[in-house]
Amino acid sequence: MTTSAEIMELFSRYVIANYTRYPVCLVRGEGSLIWDAEGNRYIDFFPGWGCNLIGHCPPRVVAAVREQVGELIHVPNTWYMEAQGRLAEALSRRTDFQGKCFFCNSGAEANEAAIKLARLCGNEKKRHRIISFLDSFHGRTLGALSATGQPKYHAGLHPLLPGFRYAPFGDLEQTAKLIDDETIAIMVEPIQGEGGVNLPPPGFLEGLRDLCDRHGLLLIFDEVQTGMGRTGRWFAHQHWGVLPDIMTLAKATGGGVALGILVAKPHIGEKMVPGTHAATFGGNPIACRAGLATIETIEADQLLPRAVHLEQRFRQRLENWRSRTDVIRDVRVKGVMIGIEFVSPCAELVQQCLERRLLVNCTHQTVLRLLPAMNLPDALFEEGCAILEEIILNWRP
Ligand SMILES: Cc1ncc(COP(=O)(O)O)c(C=O)c1O
Repeated sequence: MTTSAEIMELFSRYVIANYTRYPVCLVRGEGSLIWDAEGNRYIDFFPGWGCNLIGHCPPRVVAAVREQVGELIHVPNTWYMEAQGRLAEALSRRTDFQGKCFFCNSGAEANEAAIKLARLCGNEKKRHRIISFLDSFHGRTLGALSATGQPKYHAGLHPLLPGFRYAPFGDLEQTAKLIDDETIAIMVEPIQGEGGVNLPPPGFLEGLRDLCDRHGLLLIFDEVQTGMGRTGRWFAHQHWGVLPDIMTLAKATGGGVALGILVAKPHIGEKMVPGTHAATFGGNPIACRAGLATIETIEADQLLPRAVHLEQRFRQRLENWRSRTDVIRDVRVKGVMIGIEFVSPCAELVQQCLERRLLVNCTHQTVLRLLPAMNLPDALFEEGCAILEEIILNWRP
């Protein structure tokens, strides 16, 4: 049996070290549990960095991929494929804007497509600028990175793609001031994820829609992290009843299989004509079958109401801890998107959790982020929360 140490040795020799990795090699997952090469069992409150929203190896996704892989692995987009058409229909029916889809493989790629589509729409009017927000995160390709309003991610990579301006998240007045004759779009995560699980203040998303309508701009919602049911609705913007012109999805859409999607209002999607954009692997049969099986799972297992139920349970628990310690500054919860903001950097809490075999994440220095599966069972909720409670309430930063 190969050990974690042996695999780490391979990485040190042959894999570029651009990630900070925990010294553990994970080998098998099932639902909200995962095991390492030594057979240790972990509870996963951060499965797949948000990609495994319906748990590790969800049975319907496993079955669909197994079946598809024996029939047809890949064909390019010069041909029609049933699974891509069916997934586009399934997604469109769950939007409130009859969206039409472009398929790719990741969140950054979906946002790259959104930036290009916005520029294509603005081309005739000589508009290309996009307003995005401080503390946003849109991905690591150069376009998506330029949209990302966090200088720490820009370091060493200048010059960035021109045409981006950043407003403070939640500040309509400052956003309005950045609009000029060359602006074509406003791009925003309805709830900022990597930036610290920041909920939009009341009226903010509605106000952005209004600004876009008044100035003839496109509203782009990056739902890469918030989408596919995580917040208790298919798409987070549905909580506020504000429609985007373009929406991007990835992470959870394929039940763990790489799948990125841009969904646009039909008359906007029309601007993406042959030759303007493409992705060789985009919408391949395996990813699309995984996407269909993910939607089927969320519906058949009633996971949207389950996410709302878990929201209430997590909120109750977190508020209880907050009342018993002064290290928690704020708690922010929407569905199974959870941020606990501390008065100090919280990376050491992640380490302590790992030692107790609970997987969590720290983002934006001081925010402990949990993105548990929507089908997290009650028993694992309790077991994981008991570990967190003990660690947090005993923490003296
Ligand atoms: C809101 C948001 N957009 C885009 C991305 C980038 O996605 P990917 O890593 O799949 O390129 C992320 C990743 O964390 C994200 O949270």
